[in-house]
Amino acid sequence: MASIRILVGSVYGGALLTARSLKKQLEQDGHQITVLENPELEDITGNTDPILVCTSTTGQGEVPPNLLPFYLRLREELPQQPGRPFGVIVLGDSSYGETFCGAGELMEEALYETSARKVGDTLRIDALETTEPELEAEPWVRQWLEHL
Ligand SMILES: Cc1cc2nc3c(=O)[nH]c(=O)nc-3n(C[C@H](O)[C@H](O)[C@H](O)COP(=O)(O)O)c2cc1C
Repeated sequence: MASIRILVGSVYGGALLTARSLKKQLEQDGHQITVLENPELEDITGNTDPILVCTSTTGQGEVPPNLLPFYLRLREELPQQPGRPFGVIVLGDSSYGETFCGAGELMEEALYETSARKVGDTLRIDALETTEPELEAEPWVRQWLEHL
């Protein structure tokens, strides 16, 4: 059984609902899930749990305001965590073109700079294609867990 920390970035609540839905599902399977709605750097530096980023994209490919302070500190301090597993679920809208799901890339780059290890491919959820992101996230996360 795994203990997972979910870092949430959300403006309108879609990514937050997705994270909460994953918590509910995975806890039924016996995993321990912490959903961090306003994450601080200390939420990840004090432990070695695998990290799951679950964020939407705002502005022009930017990280939502609730996740931004975490992101900026992560980039500034780069706490090294060699080999720590992480995964990325990112919500976006393909009509934004080049900035589609940009927040996921920003978080991924920053985590790579801490020497963390990405597990699985990023799940990009397109608001043009679904209004129920949790339905895409659930099967993805089960596969992700198998590869931890
Ligand atoms: C003001 C605004 C800016 C956005 N900018 C982007 C963007 O640059 N790239 C992208 O892929 N999606 C963008 N989106 C789409 C959101 O990421 C998408 O609707 C997502 O599902 C919202 O999730 P949330 O409810 O967790 O905030 C933007 C949406 C809004 C309202």
